Amino acid sequence: MCPFLDTASASHPALIDSNHALQQSILATVPDAMVVIDEAGTILLFSDAACRMFGYDASEAVGQNVRGLMPNPDRDRHDHYMRHYMETGEAHVIGIGRITTARRRDGSTFPIELAVGEARGDSGRLFTGFIRDLTEMRRAERRLADLQAELSHISRVSAMGSLASALAHELNQPLTAISSYAEGARALLGEDGTPAAGDIDMVRDALAEASGQALRAGQIVRRLREFISRGESERSVERLRRLVTEAAALALTGAGPSNIDFEIRLDPTVDRVLVDRIQIQQVLFNLIRNAVEAMQSASRQRLAVYSQHLPSAKGAAGLVKVTVADSGPGLAPAVAAVLFQPFNTSKAKGMGLGLSICRTIVEAHGGRIWAEASEFGGTAFHFTLEIAEEPQDD
Ligand SMILES: Nc1ncnc2c1ncn2[C@@H]1O[C@H](COP(=O)(O)OP(=O)(O)O)[C@@H](O)[C@H]1O
Ligand SMILES: [Mg+2]
Repeated sequence: MCPFLDTASASHPALIDSNHALQQSILATVPDAMVVIDEAGTILLFSDAACRMFGYDASEAVGQNVRGLMPNPDRDRHDHYMRHYMETGEAHVIGIGRITTARRRDGSTFPIELAVGEARGDSGRLFTGFIRDLTEMRRAERRLADLQAELSHISRVSAMGSLASALAHELNQPLTAISSYAEGARALLGEDGTPAAGDIDMVRDALAEASGQALRAGQIVRRLREFISRGESERSVERLRRLVTEAAALALTGAGPSNIDFEIRLDPTVDRVLVDRIQIQQVLFNLIRNAVEAMQSASRQRLAVYSQHLPSAKGAAGLVKVTVADSGPGLAPAVAAVLFQPFNTSKAKGMGLGLSICRTIVEAHGGRIWAEASEFGGTAFHFTLEIAEEPQDD
């Protein structure tokens, strides 16, 4: 083979120059922090945005192992994660993306959204990570602020707990009335079931009263429902991934500094659900906050939100089961018995309303919510949602 041709095709100076220039311009302009690593985790490329985000110069970062950009436990485990992926092909981040935490040069940590893609280079695989700072990204902040404003109707939902007990009291009146009208009518029917001629009208009146009271009870229940759902149904086709990512960012952002190893693992075959977005995000928010609070003194803090398609028998699109799993202490038996009832809390400052609100919302959507032990040795809350029928667009 002609050595001249060989070298010319592989490394023509003009080609190297233009490749290099292209690479430099990409690194300088890509808006997200971009980090390219090899199979060993060594940083090959480090974009300008990454320099600003992490506080390293590109010249310092290149050649270092990427785990330096992570807090523990990921830092110690990253080599293992990569080996595991190479050996099994089982991805936890690659092609999926997740919200996790990163570590700046000065040791401070911050929440990020990480997306990792994979490419095959001449000398093995390359992994490209795109990183968004969830605390600094102004767009995300605005989005969070918007969400926060929308979620202010939570306080309204929270008031539901106290309203519920007032309504329970109110419901007692028609129920007592129904019972005494029915009892009266039964007495008027007499021993042999044939009322005296003059009593027939009274029986009829008593039954009319009883049915009127039953309607009133129904109205009271409906009022409670309307109050919770803001009086109008706002269901629309939403993407589960968006609901989860936003609710998680919100729940984790306000939860204070932590070392949570967090992952979102959504079933790629289901994404669209027909829901009231704010309400379902409220459910996710409550469950994630509870999980974070439960893990406060756990040595290993693992949190995962995942979904699973539950196909239905025939025709219909079926259900999706959404799970929030933690590595906390699990449910105390006394708590488990009254889990979804309002005003049950084991926390000094707890209201004990979160889970009862979750149940009201999930059931109003035709779903079910329950708790089990989680794969991480803590608690897993599951709830189901109906999958939206095939989308019209996009
Ligand atoms: N992930 C969890 N792990 C352990 N216990 C939990 C978890 N989620 C909820 N609980 C228990 O259920 C109780 C009720 O939760 P909730 O209704 O959200 O009210 P609150 O959070 O105000 O206490 C909590 O106080 C806690 O004891
Ligand atoms: Mg709670």
